[in-house]
Amino acid sequence: MNRKLSSILVTGGAGFIGVNFIRHLFERAGFDGRIVNLDAVTYAGNPASLADLSAGYKRHYDFVRGDICDRGTVEKVFEDYQIDTLVHFAAESHVDRSILGPEAFVRTNVMGTFTLLDVARMKWKGRDDVLFHHISTDEVFGSLGETGYFHEATPYDPRSPYSASKASSDHLVRAYHHTYGLPITLSNCSNNYGPYQFPEKLIPLMIQNMLEGKALPVYGDGRNIRDWLYVEDHASAIWTILGRAESGSSYNVGGENEWENLRLLEKLMEVVAAKSGKSLDAIRGSITYVKDRPGHDRRYAINCDAIKRDLGWRQALTFDEGLERTVDWYLSNQAWVDSIRSGEYQKWIDMNYAAR
Ligand code: NAD
Ligand code: TYD
Repeated sequence: MNRKLSSILVTGGAGFIGVNFIRHLFERAGFDGRIVNLDAVTYAGNPASLADLSAGYKRHYDFVRGDICDRGTVEKVFEDYQIDTLVHFAAESHVDRSILGPEAFVRTNVMGTFTLLDVARMKWKGRDDVLFHHISTDEVFGSLGETGYFHEATPYDPRSPYSASKASSDHLVRAYHHTYGLPITLSNCSNNYGPYQFPEKLIPLMIQNMLEGKALPVYGDGRNIRDWLYVEDHASAIWTILGRAESGSSYNVGGENEWENLRLLEKLMEVVAAKSGKSLDAIRGSITYVKDRPGHDRRYAINCDAIKRDLGWRQALTFDEGLERTVDWYLSNQAWVDSIRSGEYQKWIDMNYAAR
């Protein structure tokens, strides 16, 4: 393996997983190259999430506000920073939003990924010391019944506009490898949770609503199952793949941690009540069954034996530890929640970072 891994373009690095990945590289993995964070700063992105990176890391870090669908912007970043590695997180990521407005998902997830691939192909012609790593989801595999797991070879069967757009992008990434020889790796992960997640996804939304005394909306019968992965474990999996995986390979990354939504909610209510001093009975009384999500996938569960066997990756945290850390983080970071929900910080970004 002669990968350079020295000038890394992270797309969507102002979003939930991207922020945690950049922190992981600087604060835990000992990375001492350069990271360029290209992010359009949609409702879900907040570059201020990295504002406290210590001065030592700041010399190695640049933020560029820009759209991955804009070819000129992507080309300029490749030229300005001599990019040798691309880690692609940028996406529209919320299933409910994809049901209400699918177009943005096709644009960013399909056209944006295409633009990045095509620029990488032109700029990296013939090189084998470079890598395009694409972050995808287990939702491309469809929905499981009561038994079975998604494996790397499970046929694709996406069912929401979100998962269909991610599946399209996965196919394009593999097509660029097979057709043009672009060095790529790909990972499909399960539901992430942890600090810096926009409070529209299940865990942060429920934490916030518990803290604010609001209703806790449970879709359908609350018996859908997800496999929860702590975001820092996901970050370490990606870093492992960048360093060790063969070009052309795909790995599933999961928490091996399946929970029915209602059971998860019960656990979360206990942690929030214990840490916030709120009444557990009052929180329990806020559970509200609401209309089910159209086409709601029943169960996701990942088999991640391959990344453990081939690359030696392991999850580091138990679910109890991960949930405790997550609730602690939200309790201590209500200003971040207010800021990202209000979109106020975007005015500051508009003044300081004109979109390219
Ligand atoms: P997120 O919604 O929190 O962040 C997405 C980021 O991408 C934001 O900072 C946003 O500003 C940026 N972005 C959106 N459109 C852009 C564009 N056109 N150009 C540049 N930047 C743009 O998402 P996340 O939860 O951090 O997810 C990151 C990746 O991981 C996505 O590709 C998602 O599909 C995948 N994934 C997420 C999960 C999960 O549980 N969150 C699970 C599996 C896979
Ligand atoms: P979500 O966090 O949106 O992730 P995904 O749909 O991509 O897996 O939802 C996780 C599960 O929680 C899913 O079964 C839908 C359910 N859910 C609710 O019951 N209520 C909510 O308010 C939300 C956001 C999700």
